[in-house]
Amino acid sequence: MNVTDRLYFRQFLAGVDFAVGDAVATQMVNYVYAVGDRETGDAVLLDPAYRPRELLTAIEGDGMTLRGVILTHYHADHAGGSLVGHHIDGTRELLEIVDVPVHVQATETPWVSEGSGVDDGSFVGHDSGDTVEVGGITVTLIHTPGHTPGSQCVLVDNRLMSGDTLFLDGCGRTDLPGSDPAEMYRTLTSRLAGLDGSTWLYPGHRYASAPSAQLVDVRRDNAVLAPMGAEQWLAMFSR
Ligand SMILES: [Fe+2]
Repeated sequence: MNVTDRLYFRQFLAGVDFAVGDAVATQMVNYVYAVGDRETGDAVLLDPAYRPRELLTAIEGDGMTLRGVILTHYHADHAGGSLVGHHIDGTRELLEIVDVPVHVQATETPWVSEGSGVDDGSFVGHDSGDTVEVGGITVTLIHTPGHTPGSQCVLVDNRLMSGDTLFLDGCGRTDLPGSDPAEMYRTLTSRLAGLDGSTWLYPGHRYASAPSAQLVDVRRDNAVLAPMGAEQWLAMFSR
């Protein structure tokens, strides 16, 4: 069985596919992803915010067992924690149900620790290019700073889960604590530039009508990826 046949992959839209009736989830339109190996039944959840028990039940209903969590970055709508006065359940509450490792970029660890309340002993801090084995499926973590210091994109079988680094239209904000517009420019023009155009982009929010798109199309249509120098890019897009 090849990787594509073995790959278990689900995209959950907050407020629609789970956390139905949750006003914050409905407003924030986050995507949560599940990645796993259909042959071994091992799976990980990526950014399991809002209703972690529902997400766990969904993958267990598919015959999968949770082996870990991957966080794209520390923000509460992805990792869980406090968002402008609202508490969002997430990684900490999930770990109260099932004790699994939490994979983050090493530079994001203190931010996630403070924001989510997850115990430091649960984190596995990674460098760019590190891989996580989920059964027989290899997941590659790419450090993509800019939105936050340790933002990461997650690549598996020609699919890039991009968190708040890159959307189908636009990119993540660069005016938040830990943001760095110059790093975002380098992420978009260098760190993600080598990915093949056939790669499917799966973003962290539904800010476009389509749930995903191929990079060849995103590179053509997304203004933040238009060819330009750093000075012009920063003048146009840093906030
Ligand atoms: Fe974010």
